[in-house]
Amino acid sequence: MKGVGVGEKVYAALRSVGAYTPQRCVSNKELETQIDTSDEWITRRTGIKTRYFATAEQKSSDLGIEAAKVALQRAKMLPSDIDLVIVGTLAPDFIAMPSTACIIASALGIHDRPAFDISAACSGFIYLLSVAKAYIESGMAKNILIVGAEKVSSVLNPQDRGTYILFGDGAGAAIISATQDKELSILNVHISADGQYQDYLMTPRSEINKKEIMQCMSMKGNEVFKIAVHKLADEVKHILEECNMGPKDIQYFVPHQANYRIIKAVGDLLNFDSSQIVLTVDKFGNTSAASIPMAINMLYENNQLKRGSRLLLDALGGGLTWGSAILHFDGE
Ligand code: ACO
Repeated sequence: MKGVGVGEKVYAALRSVGAYTPQRCVSNKELETQIDTSDEWITRRTGIKTRYFATAEQKSSDLGIEAAKVALQRAKMLPSDIDLVIVGTLAPDFIAMPSTACIIASALGIHDRPAFDISAACSGFIYLLSVAKAYIESGMAKNILIVGAEKVSSVLNPQDRGTYILFGDGAGAAIISATQDKELSILNVHISADGQYQDYLMTPRSEINKKEIMQCMSMKGNEVFKIAVHKLADEVKHILEECNMGPKDIQYFVPHQANYRIIKAVGDLLNFDSSQIVLTVDKFGNTSAASIPMAINMLYENNQLKRGSRLLLDALGGGLTWGSAILHFDGE
C-alpha cells in the first residue's frame, strides 16, 4: 500500500460517486399480483412506488463492479491508483469467502491491494466512510474505493409481505482520496452498534436439507421503525452539535432510504426544510448499503452536487448498527 508524505496533515475527501441500477423495475402494482398487498398500502406506509431487481444471474459483485467503474471514471483514476477496496453488503456473493471486495477488485483490474467486506447492513456506507477516513488520515492509503453492493432480493422471502415490499437491488460506489484542504473533506463520521437488538432484523439460516441452506430476512418492523426515528434523530443532533452546525449549515440531508415516514419524522424533529432532504425511496426502495451513494449519485447526475457542497448522512440497519457523517463533495 502506498503511503503519503511523512509529516503532511491529510484529510479524507469524497472525490467521486457512481451507481448502478438493475434493469428490471418492479412496481407496487406488479407486487399486488404476487402477494397480499396493495399499491395504496405500500405508498401510505413507506412512500415506495417502485424498486429494481437484479436478474437471477447477477450477483452483488456484478452490481458493485458497474457502480465502481463509474466512480473511477468520474475521478479520472485508473485501477492502479486504488490502494484499498472495501465493500459493504448484506448479500455477499459467497457466505464465507471470497469476500465480495476481492471479486470486485479483481474484476476491475485492482491486484495486489487489500480488499475486504464489512457487515453493517443498511449502515454499510457510513461504516465504509468511517474506515476509509481512518485509513487516509493515518497515512495508510491515498485512494480508496468503497462500494455498497446489494442484491437484497437474494435474501428476501417472497412470501413475507412485511419485508418483500420494502427492498430493492442496486449499487453505489465512491472514491475517497487524501486531501490537504480541510474545507473540502469528510469533517466527521460517527458509527455505533448495539447487538442487544440483533433479532429486530436478521437473516437466520434454516437448513432445508443437507445440501441447501435458506437465508431469508426476518424483521420486527414496528420496533425497527420506532428505534430508527429515535436513534437517527439523536445521531443527527449530536453530529451537528459536534461540528458546531445547525440544519441551515447543511446543503443536502441524505438519509438512508428505508421509509419515507422515518425520513420525514427525523427531518421534522431536526427542522430540516423539505428542499434539503434527498429522497429516492419512492423509486428504488431500500437498497441497504447502496442507498446513500445511489442518492448522492442522483444529486450528481441532476447537476445539484457542486465542489464544496456540504452533505449530512444518516443510517440505521441490522445489527443494530447506525451512524452519521458530515462531509463535502470534492469532485468535479
Ligand atoms: N401489505 C398490506 N398489509 C400489510 C403489509 C403489506 N405489505 N405488511 C403488513 N401488513 C399489515 C399487517 O399484517 C397489519 O395487519 P393487521 O392490522 O391486520 O394485523 C397491518 O398491515 C399493519 O402492520 P404494521 O406492521 O403495524 O404496519 P406499519 O405501519 O408498522 O408498517 C412497516 C410496516 C412499513 C414495515 C414499518 O413498520 C416500517 O417501515 N418499519 C421500518 C422497517 C425498515 O425500514 N426496515 C429496513 C431496514 S432498517 C432501516 O433501514 C431503518
